[in-house]
Amino acid sequence: MHVEKLTCALGAEISGIKLAEVGRNDDLAGEVNELLIKHKVLFFREQEISDAEHAAFARRFGELEDHPLASSADSEPGIIHIWKSPESPPERYENSWHTDAAWRERPPMGAVLRCVECPPVGGDTMWANMELAYEQLPDHIKEDIADLRARHSMEATFMAAKPADERLAMKERFPDPEHPVVRTHPVTGRKCLYTGGFITHFTNYHTAKRVRVGQDWHPGAANLLQYLISQSAIPEYQIRWRWTPGSVAVWDNRCTQHYAVMDYPPCIRRMNRATIIGDRPY
Ligand code: SIN
Repeated sequence: MHVEKLTCALGAEISGIKLAEVGRNDDLAGEVNELLIKHKVLFFREQEISDAEHAAFARRFGELEDHPLASSADSEPGIIHIWKSPESPPERYENSWHTDAAWRERPPMGAVLRCVECPPVGGDTMWANMELAYEQLPDHIKEDIADLRARHSMEATFMAAKPADERLAMKERFPDPEHPVVRTHPVTGRKCLYTGGFITHFTNYHTAKRVRVGQDWHPGAANLLQYLISQSAIPEYQIRWRWTPGSVAVWDNRCTQHYAVMDYPPCIRRMNRATIIGDRPY
């Protein structure tokens, strides 16, 4: 197995390994797990694997979950389709910096994304190291956000274009959870900025510490939220991966954000994702 670090911020390309074999081999799975904790996102090329092998590899990190809105592979629960073509609905959600499913009480710990078909050029995915983003914040911002919490919403994102009755029914199933703005990694104990595209507002900003009079509240909270959200867009925290059919990315969803670049229509892009169940952020 050969490991090549791809940027100073995060990401490594692993070669000389077959993911189908990792799915069957405890020692190899342990090594890949350690590499994931270290590099936060791992890339593999030329992995001709079936949906079953894809799921078996992903289960090495934990149990899988489907997505309430994405179609799943018939043959393999846990493998969802992120397939885009000119016929796809106009609403897009993956071209926004986000951590997957932050609208769950227990967002995924990670995901394994496999490229089935991609445009000849375009359709890259970017990731950002949110531990680095947190570390490099000015001290006064770190102090200010240490106790902050925020709400994340499926209703305000995936459901916004749906009829109100469908939107409200989904909100019953997935009530908007509240998560800490600074999250601690359950394995490493390191802190990261836990914001991203599903966040709607801070839930405990309006205290005497920050709000003297009403005028302080909305601009203060909105500016701070916008500032924190914008950190993932800093190039020094990022990696950008160019897909080829059969390439695979595995990421730690607890300390990274990602963004699928939507520059390829009218080409087709088909990705299959296994999503690994995670813990409640703290
Ligand atoms: C995702 O947001 O999980 C999908 C990323 C991608 O399609 O590149």
